[in-house]
Parts: sequence; structure tokens; C-alpha cells
Amino acid sequence: MAEEAGRGVAGRSIRILLNGEPCEIRDVPPATTVLDWLRTEKRLTGTKEGCAEGDCGACTVVLGIPDGGGLRHEAVNSCLMTVPQLAGRALLTVEGLAANGRLHPLQKAMVEADASQCGFCTPGIAMALYAFLEGGEEPEVETIHDALAGNLCRCTGYRPIVDAARKAERSPAPVSAGPVPEAGPGYEAGAQIFFAPRTLDQLVALRAAHPDAPILAGGTDLGLLFSRERRAFDAIVSVARVGELDRLEIREDEIEIGAAVTYTRALPVLDAEYPGMGELIRRIGSRQIRNLGTIGGNIGNASPIGDMPPCLIALDATLVLRGAEGAREMPIGDFFLDYRRTDLRPGEVIEAVRVPRLAPGEVFRTYKVSKRYDQDISAVIGAYRLTLADGRVTDARIAYGGMAATPKRARHAERALIGGSWDGAAVEGAKRAMEDDFEPIDDFRAGARYRAAVAANLLERLHLQTAGGDAPTGVFAL
Ligand SMILES: Cc1cc2nc3c(=O)[nH]c(=O)nc-3n(C[C@H](O)[C@H](O)[C@H](O)COP(=O)(O)OP(=O)(O)OC[C@H]3O[C@@H](n4cnc5c(N)ncnc54)[C@H](O)[C@@H]3O)c2cc1C
Ligand code: FES
Ligand code: FES
Repeated sequence: MAEEAGRGVAGRSIRILLNGEPCEIRDVPPATTVLDWLRTEKRLTGTKEGCAEGDCGACTVVLGIPDGGGLRHEAVNSCLMTVPQLAGRALLTVEGLAANGRLHPLQKAMVEADASQCGFCTPGIAMALYAFLEGGEEPEVETIHDALAGNLCRCTGYRPIVDAARKAERSPAPVSAGPVPEAGPGYEAGAQIFFAPRTLDQLVALRAAHPDAPILAGGTDLGLLFSRERRAFDAIVSVARVGELDRLEIREDEIEIGAAVTYTRALPVLDAEYPGMGELIRRIGSRQIRNLGTIGGNIGNASPIGDMPPCLIALDATLVLRGAEGAREMPIGDFFLDYRRTDLRPGEVIEAVRVPRLAPGEVFRTYKVSKRYDQDISAVIGAYRLTLADGRVTDARIAYGGMAATPKRARHAERALIGGSWDGAAVEGAKRAMEDDFEPIDDFRAGARYRAAVAANLLERLHLQTAGGDAPTGVFAL
């Protein structure tokens, strides 16, 4: 046991259910990935390593998360997840699917549909589909493809895999058995400690006591440090179990999203409130990524091509930061200072983001353009909130990602629009004004000139969509 002082105690073991059986984990360094642990320690080598960075899905496993007396099943990438993140979860790997020597109905359906060739991707695909079936969604072709967007198969082709998913039946599986042991407040092994505080006060105290420790939410960005770089840290501080950070509250005039709320959880709420946001979030990584990844992590990561910051800036969201002295609030746009540099002070954490709900007369849209439709980072992401009255623009907030070192407002374009009619001429004026707003990034995702042209054209698209024109409603890949 270590580290008390009102911050919880890190135990020397973690108890989970592994394929339905109690499993105690000890002496495994906390920065070990679940994938490495499964393959090297448990010798469960059905789970494969393809890319080790969340892209291919070969490492997909399923978490059983206690929820309302039962378990909710979510597919995750074991390559990006550290072992202590398993605490309080049941873990199912492909080895747990078949029971009593009989294939799971899903596996049987895959065999019958010829849904595997070399087989390298197959365990990951089986696990992604297992979570899909357990989720109880209708097995429509589109939803199956959405469930498989994070699983790359290079040789079978997706038609037989989708066929198998459509025919497969749910069946009780070992992961659902037995109560899941409760998670402790932390875990230590060797010289490393993983803190899993439960309250904001504990989190802030730990942040102050371990200023160099990485703050871990879902780990879909940070996980690369463990997975690819094999970095070890004396301490890691997880925010995932902090009750106050897990809040998602819909109030009369705003939606408050705690920093540890995952995309999967936020999706239906944001989808219902902000047109275009649901479609955008469905294109953030894959289900595996969205099941772990958080909006707080997207803000904390401060990437110039992160998808949420431009939306939150356009919506005038307020960021709540918490340190030992208490909370402070700021417009989210002020948080991003320079490339990957934020206004987060030493000892502070992101607590929540408050997003105003749309008022009458306000329209919101967001468009993501990336090289590939699924599972790809934006080349350009635009987010727009206009207040319209009698065909005139009375207010405008326009923000882009991929157009500067930080997510940034297009203030010149906004000024060009405010006070004028919402018509084609105004859009042309705003497009010209936007030339003074940005010096776009020029990199392998897209050139600067291309990005500038796309950003301007997305504004035109906004006009076509919101002025009653006949414009496409989807989000595009290049
Ligand atoms: C395959 C793949 C696809 C992806 N696709 C997309 C995409 O399409 N669009 C996109 O925007 N992103 C994408 N990402 C990036 C990533 O999924 C997101 O940025 C996600 O929101 C990160 O959230 P997380 O909870 O996993 O953060 P983590 O990885 O846990 O943390 C990210 C950063 O935020 C900090 N942080 C987290 N929480 C807090 C807090 N409460 N207070 C202070 N700091 C905090 C961490 O210290 C770290 O620096 C992708 C990642 C992968 C691996
Ligand atoms: S190994 Fe490719 S997603 Fe994990
Ligand atoms: S069966 Fe070979 S990669 Fe999918």
C-alpha cells in the first residue's frame, strides 16, 4: 500500500473477471498495455498486434462495464489501454467466446459465411461484432459497417463479414457471468503507481503531489506513450473514475460535459442538440476509440486538428478548470495558446465544458474533411453558429481546425457576415475576408492552399444548407 494523505491508497493487485473467471493482476507495471499483458503474461495470443496505435482493430477486446445491475459491453483497443484501466471491468477476449468446446454463434456464422482468410484480423472483428450484438442494435448493413470501422481486414473483404454479422445470434457468454470485483483507488507495482481517485478533491491533491505524472483519461492519445514509446512513469493519474468528471447534465440553457465523459456517452445528447455533431462524432476514430476517448482528452490534447475544439469554440463553450485554489472558467477559445500549448496551469485539471444550447434563430453546422471517411483525422474541420433574423446575420461564430497552430476563430469572416443578408454575395465577401484569418498548416494531410480553399468552400456549403438550398448533408472524405 502507498500514498495516503486523503488521496486514496494504491493497492498491489487488481481483481477483474477475465473471460468469466476471477483474475488477480499483480507485479505488472502499470504502464503495461492490456495487449502486452494478455499476450506475454496470460498467453492469450488470440488478441493480435497490428499497428499498436489504435488504427487496425486487431487487438480489439470487449469490456463488460457494470451498468444498472448488468454489464454493458464495449469494444476497445487493448493496445492503447493500460492494465490498471481494467479495474472494475470484466474483460472478454476471443478465447472466451467459445464455451464448452462449442463455437459462439457469431463464430459459427463467420465460419459459415467464409468471413475469414488469413485470420489475422478475425479475432478483433469477432470481438467488435460481439460488442455490437450485445448492444442490441438492429443488424442493418450501415450500423454493422459503423461497428467495424475500426477493424481493418486486408484480404477477406467486408461483404462476408457483414453477412455473418447479420445472421449471427446473440447468446449468453462468459463475460456476463458473475459480479465484477470493485475497482480500488489505485494500483502499484515495482516503482510505478497508477492513481485512480474517486473525487475531484483527491484528483487535485494528486495533481499537486505529482506534477510530472501524466493525466490519463481514455488514453487514446496518451496510450501511444505506453504502446509505441514504451515509456514508464513513476506515477500516472487517471481521471476516469472521478465522479464529478463523469457528469453529463442537460440544463435549460446549457449542457455540461464532465471531462471524463466518453464520446460514446456524449454522442446521443450532442447529436440531438447540435445538427452535424452526431455525424462528426461518429467519424472520430472508431467505436473502440469512442468507447474510451473523452471530450476532456480532446481538449487537453490541444491538437490543431482535434475535432471537438472548433465546435466548442463556435458554440461559445466555457471551460471549467480546477486547481488547489478552486475553479476558474474561461471561454474555450482562450485556452489554446499556441501549438499544443494551453492555458492549463501547473496543478490544474480540466473539470468540465459547458456548452450553451441553441437559442431560437441560431443555426449550427460542422463539417469534417479528411482523406478517408472513417477513422481518419481531419485535414480541415469547420464549425459554424449563425444567428439569423429575417434573412440577416445578427451574430456569427466560425471556427476551424487544421487552419493554424491552434483551433481558431475566423474573426474577419465573422465580421464580414454580421449585419448583412445571408446570401451568396455575403458568403463571397466572407470567403475573401477569411484569407486574413489563417495561415493554414501545410503537411502530409493536406497542403496550405488546399486547406484554405476547403475552408472557404465549407462556408459556401453552410450557406447552401441553411439558406434553403439543395446541398448535400453528409460529411466528406477527400
Ligand atoms: C485511431 C485513432 C483515431 C483518432 N481519431 C480522431 C479523430 O477523428 N478526431 C479527433 O479529434 N481525435 C482523434 N483521435 C485522438 C483521440 O482519440 C482524441 O483526442 C480523444 O478525445 C482523446 O481523449 P482521451 O480521453 O483518450 O485522452 P487521453 O489520451 O487520456 O489524454 C489526452 C491528453 O489530454 C490530457 N487530459 C485528459 N484529460 C484531462 C483532464 N481532465 N485535465 C487535464 N488534462 C487532461 C492528457 O494528459 C493528455 O495530454 C484518434 C486517436 C486514435 C488512436
Ligand atoms: S494493434 Fe492495431 S488497433 Fe491495436
Ligand atoms: S482475414 Fe486476413 S486481414 Fe482479415
